[in-house]
Amino acid sequence: MAARVPLRPDQREAIDAGRFVRVELPFASVIVGKVDGAWKAYANVCPHRLVPLDFGGLRPTSDDGRYLLCHQHGALFRPEDGVCIEGPCQGDALRKVGIVAEGQGLLVDDGGPPALPEPIRSREERDPVRSKG
Ligand code: FES
Repeated sequence: MAARVPLRPDQREAIDAGRFVRVELPFASVIVGKVDGAWKAYANVCPHRLVPLDFGGLRPTSDDGRYLLCHQHGALFRPEDGVCIEGPCQGDALRKVGIVAEGQGLLVDDGGPPALPEPIRSREERDPVRSKG
């Protein structure tokens, strides 16, 4: 399911300047921006320790604006595909999120609510063939 995300003027200005910004969805935050005119969005979760890239309220891009940056241990990610090119999670990637422009805002895939644990099932339900023997 997609969530409608309005962009503030300062966020739009940062994106137009080539930076990524954080937007809030019902169940998560996402980093959004443009690469060569195409919208890109990634879950705001570093694959190294699963913390937000912008933890502490810092902006999620490197000072030169060329990479996405996790401020915890300095991992750098390519904005075009989210792959970590330097840092403790080198070779891992940020999770891509669906995004399309809609008027002055965005439609961003919110991923739905967090998964609930599997219900407890009986042995017969889990493996009907083995449970007969
Ligand atoms: S938590 Fe992101 S680099 Fe360590």
